[in-house]
Amino acid sequence: MTHPLLPTAPLGTDGPLVGVQGLGCMGMSEFYGPTDSDEALATLDAALAAGVTLFDTADMYGAGRNEEFIGPFVRANRDKVVLATKFAIERDPADPTKRAIRNDPEYIRTAVEGSLRRLGVDVIDLYYMHRRNPDVPLAESVGAMAELVQAGKVRHLGLSEVTGAELREAHAVHPIAAVQSEWSVFARDVERSAVPAAAELGVAFVPYSPLGRGFLTGAFQDAATLAADDFRRTHPRYTGENAVANGELLTPMRKIAEAHEATLAQVALAWVHQRAEVHGLTVVPIPGTRKRSRLAENTAAATLRLSAEELALLETLAGQVAGDRYADMRNTSVGRE
Ligand SMILES: NC(=O)c1ccc[n+]([C@@H]2O[C@H](COP(=O)([O-])OP(=O)(O)OC[C@H]3O[C@@H](n4cnc5c(N)ncnc54)[C@H](OP(=O)(O)O)[C@@H]3O)[C@@H](O)[C@H]2O)c1
Repeated sequence: MTHPLLPTAPLGTDGPLVGVQGLGCMGMSEFYGPTDSDEALATLDAALAAGVTLFDTADMYGAGRNEEFIGPFVRANRDKVVLATKFAIERDPADPTKRAIRNDPEYIRTAVEGSLRRLGVDVIDLYYMHRRNPDVPLAESVGAMAELVQAGKVRHLGLSEVTGAELREAHAVHPIAAVQSEWSVFARDVERSAVPAAAELGVAFVPYSPLGRGFLTGAFQDAATLAADDFRRTHPRYTGENAVANGELLTPMRKIAEAHEATLAQVALAWVHQRAEVHGLTVVPIPGTRKRSRLAENTAAATLRLSAEELALLETLAGQVAGDRYADMRNTSVGRE
């Protein structure tokens, strides 16, 4: 397959134009095993050269280290990069596994200063609320985020793992440019309420973990074989009997990949890209990789088209997946639906 520059799409009704595939930077600092930093930095440059402009981080990735890691790249390419980061998951410096969800205005005002400092920039292009704490009125949180826009610290607002009702409520306070939630061949709960609401409001959708954290690529069969601190060991669907059963679900994807002389990763990404037409909204997936070879493979998938028959073969897979997408689903959108 060839590797043309990516087409572009708008983030929301007044948001920036971005390459229709972004890059998730999370794994460069935490969660998915050891990283070759030089290769990861080269991957950032290769992404930009391929037409990727949306770069995704969060203050909690590596407890701030991921923002620091991509900061020099962002600053060197400030006019081309659309920088997205997130707040809301507060970590305990003494115990990185401990987390609290903070949506209160005071926390938001402090969090943005930390992100700006670590990234070394004076404005964030897209600032997401990473998780929703239902004890804090949404209008208060989005109101505080809107004040950051007025103060020039943030350009556009986003939400992650929100329900359709929450998106509507937030959008009435201030325009939301994008919703970022998990969406893949194996994870389709967002199609119940968040996706239809986003389509109706003109909000873009940014699917995270579009490769099922690597499982959909065939790169690993059971997360129990990964490094001791690999976060994927905690995901019920990627270990033990569930992983064996879910691995068998990849068979139709393999057949489709063979027919296109493509890889499993490319089929998984092509499926997500084609959701844009199915649901009538902008879809900008952000597959994560730390390797240039995979970056080229993934961006090429943006122009791979699956036929109606092939899409039909994949249609029932998500309903057959064994195990939840998180060990604790309470903080996901579906946990509040
Ligand atoms: N909002 C949220 O709550 C949330 C949650 C999770 C993630 N995210 C964001 O979404 C981004 C993407 O999600 P993700 O990283 O969790 O999962 P993903 O994109 O589904 O998968 C990433 C994994 O797949 C591997 N991979 C990538 N391309 C591959 C290819 N072509 N062939 C084989 N393996 C490949 C990567 O390894 P290598 O790096 O070694 O290539 C990595 O282990 C993150 O980086 C983060 O920015 C957001």
